[in-house]
Amino acid sequence: MRISVIGCGYLGAVHAACMAKLGHEVVGIDVDEAKISELSAARSPFYEPGLAELLSEVQETGRLSFTTNMASASGSDIHFVCVGTPQKKGENGADMSYVDAAIQSLFPYLAPGDLVVGKSTVPVGTADRIASLINAAHPGVHLVWNPEFLREGHAVSDTLHPDRFVYGVADGSEDHPAVATLDEVYASPLAEGTPRLVMDLPTAELVKTAANSFLATKISFINAMAELCEASGADVTRLADAIGMDDRIGRKFLHAGIGFGGGCLPKDIRAFMARAGELGADQALTFLREVDAINMRRRTRVVELTRELCGDGLLGKRITVLGAAFKPESDDVRDSPALSIAAQLQLQGAVVTVTDPKALENAARRFPDLQYVEDTEEAVANADVLLLLTEWQEYRDLDPHMLKDSVSRPRVLDGRNVLDPAKWRAAGWHYRGLGRP
Ligand code: UDX
Repeated sequence: MRISVIGCGYLGAVHAACMAKLGHEVVGIDVDEAKISELSAARSPFYEPGLAELLSEVQETGRLSFTTNMASASGSDIHFVCVGTPQKKGENGADMSYVDAAIQSLFPYLAPGDLVVGKSTVPVGTADRIASLINAAHPGVHLVWNPEFLREGHAVSDTLHPDRFVYGVADGSEDHPAVATLDEVYASPLAEGTPRLVMDLPTAELVKTAANSFLATKISFINAMAELCEASGADVTRLADAIGMDDRIGRKFLHAGIGFGGGCLPKDIRAFMARAGELGADQALTFLREVDAINMRRRTRVVELTRELCGDGLLGKRITVLGAAFKPESDDVRDSPALSIAAQLQLQGAVVTVTDPKALENAARRFPDLQYVEDTEEAVANADVLLLLTEWQEYRDLDPHMLKDSVSRPRVLDGRNVLDPAKWRAAGWHYRGLGRP
């Protein structure tokens, strides 16, 4: 099939490459010229495992191209809308200007029989609004809301082998003509047995925000337990192991630490609360305010613990932060808890050095006043305290014996609870985890 993908960020670039991998003829469209020139040269504008290789592989087939020219959407049967919906400046709601602009600029190139497929995470009610606009101008064009659940760091495999497909269509019916068309697009994962659920437009929009809210709640729940563990001398990692063995709870997303960040969970729960307020249902989501507050408290707690570890105040102390990305296997620093903690420590007078295998360039753009060092050994040299804030494998594998000689004082705060306390203590380190005795 001929496909256009509008918006080539973390979601769209991966989607375009994966659709070409599935055998379709794909054009990726974005207003950002720098991004398009990278993608056209089969280079990924961001770090995502497997994406660069996939881009080279599919571009050789001639099935994938990138452009800034929206007119190239003309002739495609299916138009995927993959633009961002960031948090509005100074407000909790989602900024819908990119979605609205994408739909408006696509309009002149739509033809009867085309399908517009929304993948962006949007406030519930958006799809109905866009469907009315499309109906008024192009009665022969259908809209499907088909949310995307990919995780950064696993985006290629999550797109090619998703847990489920969700199709939102106007009448919520399996017989809607758009269902068969989208089935053709996803024929290969569907043949592998991926479940597919058809529902109405608002339910499909809500599936995404509800899923992300649940995940955020699960993380904040275990971080709230970490606060109790700290107060009572218990160990949150053992607690999570034990409660996670109950199938109804499950061990995944019960990793206590410095909390969630990134371009999705924090802004999605805030936009969800804002939308609930607009719908007169804000009471239903007041618990998400607490989820957000618990999450932000973890950052402050790390600053307090670092001060405690320093003994006599933060002023002039050399702190090395291991990890800048919001999670490993990504160079994304949007709402990164690691960088937020690094910036708070610096504000309070510490001399902060940040290192990360992939995210330093992005980090320096957002926080130009922090000091960045690429080499881990160089970054930790003469540190008074080490903070492990993003659990890259190479930080998990650090040898406490070797590292001890290069720091000024062997003190480590394990913000992700991934180091073995016994091993680090045996090597002579003062070890602190979060929610661990
Ligand atoms: C998330 C959803 O998982 C994905 O389905 C959706 O499509 C987009 O948002 P992503 O933002 O890539 O994906 O990251 P995710 O793996 O969910 O992690 C989010 C944050 O939570 C990270 O900062 C991570 O470090 C943190 N986290 C995750 C925890 O602190 N503890 C956990 O147990 C799990």
